[in-house]
Amino acid sequence: MSYKEEYQASIDNPEAFWAEKAAVLDWYKPASRVLSRDEHGIDHWFADGELNTCHLAIDYHVENGRADQTAVIYDSPVTNQQQKYSYLELRDQIALCAGMLKQCGVEKGDRVVIYLPMIPEALISMLACARLGAVHSVVFGGFAPPELAVRLDDATPKVLLTASCGIEINRVIEYKPIVDAAIELANHKPDACVVLQRPQAEASMQAGRDLDWHEALAGAEPAACVPVKGSDPLYILYTSGTTGKPKGVVRENGGHAVAMKYSMTAIYDFEPGEVYWAASDVGWVVGHSYIVYAPLIHGCTTVLYEGKPIMTPDAGAFWRVISEHGVKALFTAPTAFRAIKKEDPEAKLAGQYDLSCLKTIFAAGERLDPPTYEWLAQTFKVPVLDHWWQTETGWAIAANMHGLESMPVKSGSSTVPVPGFAIEILDEAGNQLGTNEQGFIAIKLPLPPSCLTSIWGDAERFKSAYLETYPGYFTTGDGGYFDDDGYLYIMGRVDDVINVAGHRLSTGEMEEIVGKHPMVAECAVIGRRDELKGQLPMGFIVLKNTEGAEPEQVVTELVSMVRQDIGAVAAFKEALVVARLPKTRSGKILRKTLRSMVDGDDYVVPSTIEDPAALDEIKAQL
Ligand code: COA
Ligand code: AMP
Repeated sequence: MSYKEEYQASIDNPEAFWAEKAAVLDWYKPASRVLSRDEHGIDHWFADGELNTCHLAIDYHVENGRADQTAVIYDSPVTNQQQKYSYLELRDQIALCAGMLKQCGVEKGDRVVIYLPMIPEALISMLACARLGAVHSVVFGGFAPPELAVRLDDATPKVLLTASCGIEINRVIEYKPIVDAAIELANHKPDACVVLQRPQAEASMQAGRDLDWHEALAGAEPAACVPVKGSDPLYILYTSGTTGKPKGVVRENGGHAVAMKYSMTAIYDFEPGEVYWAASDVGWVVGHSYIVYAPLIHGCTTVLYEGKPIMTPDAGAFWRVISEHGVKALFTAPTAFRAIKKEDPEAKLAGQYDLSCLKTIFAAGERLDPPTYEWLAQTFKVPVLDHWWQTETGWAIAANMHGLESMPVKSGSSTVPVPGFAIEILDEAGNQLGTNEQGFIAIKLPLPPSCLTSIWGDAERFKSAYLETYPGYFTTGDGGYFDDDGYLYIMGRVDDVINVAGHRLSTGEMEEIVGKHPMVAECAVIGRRDELKGQLPMGFIVLKNTEGAEPEQVVTELVSMVRQDIGAVAAFKEALVVARLPKTRSGKILRKTLRSMVDGDDYVVPSTIEDPAALDEIKAQL
């Protein structure tokens, strides 16, 4: 079927379309209704179907001829280790880990927070939760104690799983002090904290609460898959919103499994048995979907890489992994390619490896900028495909549907809407805009399978944040336009979310932290353009009392406050002390104008500005 036919079928009759895609999965009981609406008016896919996501990802393959096939390749240049797990070995380890969780009192519906580096136990424990019908919430290792504490309070887990450390290139980051501080800060205390001791650091244990991972496993019995409903949550993944409180995106088992499976053929053009590599982190949505769930549900081999694109040990790291493990497709964030290109502009290191296995490169997390696209396409001579997605959807909203038909690439575009996503470009009032007109990107309801169905514990926030701006639509928070050929161009966020090295962060949250400093009267944080990381946060600070104040000292303190509260990953290192902020007459800070000015773009001074001199003063300081 051509893309056009497939897409039209998904829009004309979504239920028939997704029922057919769902039929290839091994449900315990198929759903009696494919799409249903709950009492709050929210759509759910396959709500009363029965399945288990771990069964689909693991046990099903063990029982159907893939027991000896490699399921996971753990490749860790930071520890000089590699390990392969067959589907059978993985099943046994997951079943035991599930048994360990069960012994800690975890049952279907209970939450488990996972704060682990990129080691096999991360993937194993996610699937162990799925096996029990428990809900995992993975927290990215680069987040500081307050971020972890907020998630503990929101998800109220029974158990927290962690390790003694993560490794950043050659720096050992001790996790246990972070975890201890987070539990101290949080109102909700997990019953147990299971700690994997890694040889690089020894975690100190708190009697009565902390358990040694291996000792706990030794006393556990393997646990079987527990059937769950299609609408039961598989996981919560927190993502940055516009305020300090992150949003707990709720992903349901049924729709997620169907979308993951479908995407592996329609988008990624994969056959079971082939090797897929998403060079991301399990703490992000890309890691959830394409390191763990989708490749395994499809019976592929997935690579779990504990390293960086550069410096572990060099800018040839990705090419080594690809050639060594026979990777067919690489998926990562453009920032990783920019880092490699900066170190090795002529890709000399790539020339040292046989990359004939590599058939496609996929990019997401931020826009694939044309220079990076050109470099990749010319160097590797394989299709380089950008696709646009969000934590909220769990998979691509717009992509080059590589598995359906060969579609020409237009540099700067993430190509066309993925089947199921009825994308429209709207103006502020909700009117549909024409081609080549830039506006707010919205998705007409119902959203396809896998998209979020709530914000954990806050259904009202789900509605107010996503569904109320344009009734009948989901608001994506991104702006963009369609061209005459129906290609979609994503032009960036229209809210206070920024993208730093493929990591989604909230400038609103940074402003809240900066605003707590006793010397700060007011502030604005914007994302300014950065050649390597895409964007970097930059603060504009007005001090309360400039007499005797040492602006440089205040800025140093602000940088350290953001690092301590959010984590190193926030990369907040730059702030400018200014006399006043540019505002509209109604008091709104002109963040967009500031951003354009800092980026050196053309900008129009809004007619609503209170005092144009405020902008000129800042311009003179830059
Ligand atoms: N645990 C602890 N600290 C972490 C961390 C983790 N898991 N991940 C990042 N950090 C730290 C880094 O060490 C760095 O600390 P520093 O300020 O002390 O140097 C800081 O957070 C910022 O990290 P990052 O933004 O990643 O910058 P970098 O300069 O260390 O590396 C890249 C730049 C491009 C190599 C790196 O960002 C990268 O590989 N990006 C790919 C992004 C990605 O996979 N995104 C997922 C979506 S597909
Ligand atoms: P996250 O939820 O962390 O995946 O971040 C989602 C946000 O990243 C989106 O709302 C976009 O702003 C941005 N993004 C992701 N993929 C792309 C892409 N291919 N092109 C442009 N922006 C992207």
